[in-house]
Amino acid sequence: MTTQGYFDYNATTPVCSEAVNAFINAVTQYANPSSKYGLSKTSNEIINDARAQVATLIGADTGEVFFTSGGTESNNWAIKGAFFQQLKISSTRNHLIVSEMEHSSVLEVCAFLEREFDCTVTRLKPDSEGIVSVAAVANALRPETLLVSVMMVNNEVGSLQPIRDIAALLDDRASQQKNLHDQKIHFHVDAVQAVGKIPVDVRDLGVDTMSFSGHKFYAPKGIGGLYIRQGIKITPLLHGGGQERGLRGGTEAIASVAAMGAAAQVTVNTLNDQVVYLAKYRELLRSELLSVVPGVYFHGPANKALQAPNTLSVCIPGIRAEALAALLDNMHGIQVSLGAACSNNKSVALSHVLLSMGLDEDAVKATLRVSIGQYTTESDIHRFVQAVVTGVTTLFRISKPASQSYVTTA
Ligand SMILES: Cc1ncc(COP(=O)(O)O)c(C=O)c1O
Repeated sequence: MTTQGYFDYNATTPVCSEAVNAFINAVTQYANPSSKYGLSKTSNEIINDARAQVATLIGADTGEVFFTSGGTESNNWAIKGAFFQQLKISSTRNHLIVSEMEHSSVLEVCAFLEREFDCTVTRLKPDSEGIVSVAAVANALRPETLLVSVMMVNNEVGSLQPIRDIAALLDDRASQQKNLHDQKIHFHVDAVQAVGKIPVDVRDLGVDTMSFSGHKFYAPKGIGGLYIRQGIKITPLLHGGGQERGLRGGTEAIASVAAMGAAAQVTVNTLNDQVVYLAKYRELLRSELLSVVPGVYFHGPANKALQAPNTLSVCIPGIRAEALAALLDNMHGIQVSLGAACSNNKSVALSHVLLSMGLDEDAVKATLRVSIGQYTTESDIHRFVQAVVTGVTTLFRISKPASQSYVTTA
């Protein structure tokens, strides 16, 4: 597959051929998996196989994988589900902790619970590299804390969060506080930008619930899942016909489920190579930009081991990234975004992620989010850099008519 001008893999990925084939094969299986007759057997097998493939990808048991419509639903379900489950026992544990740089499908859920229910939310600032510290989580804990939600990989700057250490902290608190609370603090992780990009093993991480989304790892849009650790109880979000072991009503989207299973299988087989491939091209992109665009710099962790291999947050001082992105699109057929795709729908789209890292407005406005994927080639990178050079030169000519040459042509 060629996706020449596509530099927005964090917004979504193309669907891989294995997922397309699995989708086509499964979409003709019309029998409802919940029906009792023999015709449903194949539909059920497709779902079971896909569940096993996804479980392998994240290191879970099949019984811990629940299919949803995607990351947004999974985040809604985990947080509301943990909150309402706790409400059944007591309303005094009503404190939530999240980071300021979470996706809107986490932040808006917390804002909703805060607005509509007796609940308080602590929003933690990441550091200037986009990392939430374990100490910040520890300092925010209260006896009434019910849930902590921290994303595994940030969708704009690619920073990896210390998930394993936060899980260990919460386990430790649970053992100290056994007499005060009979339930440990629920640890939810939005791993939508991690699953398919870096190795993710739920056992190793020690999380209670974890969201993922098929369209971030070469499956179609509208399918994802929630990992719920064995023994963890959350209330359903979608009540209905008892599907997904009674926890998520709605007839299963068999074809999409099959496609996500196939994409998961491909990822299991190729992830280690992909990580190396992506990191190599991300670094090529970084070094080429550095050599031809004076002043360019990058947000996110300086230590590359703490950044998703496919993401580069590029700041070109003095440039309006919005104008550059439009030029790249209209003149060069290159797709790149300013921040999260969903927040781009809103009219005022100053990235809350970059602001939370302490960047000033000018730097935020000058930042492009560039994300590559398995179909990105070396020549795509060269073409992208050339287009950026042309775009930046054009924008500087427009803003500085005295024809200063801003960009070198090395
Ligand atoms: C970190 C993160 N969480 C959640 C989502 C939402 O996932 P979905 O598009 O599957 O609803 C996204 C989508 O961009 C994301 O980047």
